[in-house]
Amino acid sequence: MSVHVAWDENLARELIHERSGMEGAMLPILHALQNKFGYVDARAVAIIANSLNVSRAEVFGTISFYHDFKRQPPMGGTIKLCRAEACQARGAEELAAHLETTHGAKIDGGYHKGVSVETAYCLGNCALGPNALHDGEIYGALDPQSLDELYAAVARAAGARQ
Ligand code: FES
Repeated sequence: MSVHVAWDENLARELIHERSGMEGAMLPILHALQNKFGYVDARAVAIIANSLNVSRAEVFGTISFYHDFKRQPPMGGTIKLCRAEACQARGAEELAAHLETTHGAKIDGGYHKGVSVETAYCLGNCALGPNALHDGEIYGALDPQSLDELYAAVARAAGARQ
């Protein structure tokens, strides 16, 4: 499980500078910032805009457009549960209901005990569904027990960070 670091402007500038010459640099920069800090700090917007010679509105628009970019420091861990067709056919909705009844999770409703469960629509692993994604790792062929184990591990990691 990844560990994020607190916002650091010098580190952010480094991450931005390293990627600013790339084709279509905006998304790699935003991903790098989110991977490092767990979110894209508002203070990064002006730095990115200057570095890529685009408007702040364009940077902000990109951050807003992609649901995956967080604008606040994470309050815990996130599990993205795939609820697209193939995973639904393999029991994703039952797993979502299981998370709500067993753990009190609110799907797409923010953090509960350090874990946020968000809906995803296809993680590209349809044949091995139902799937979930956590910290860039796909967990396939989930059943209530393996999902409980993942949920517990994410909750433990969130607790350890606080
Ligand atoms: S439908 Fe869930 S991974 Fe494709």
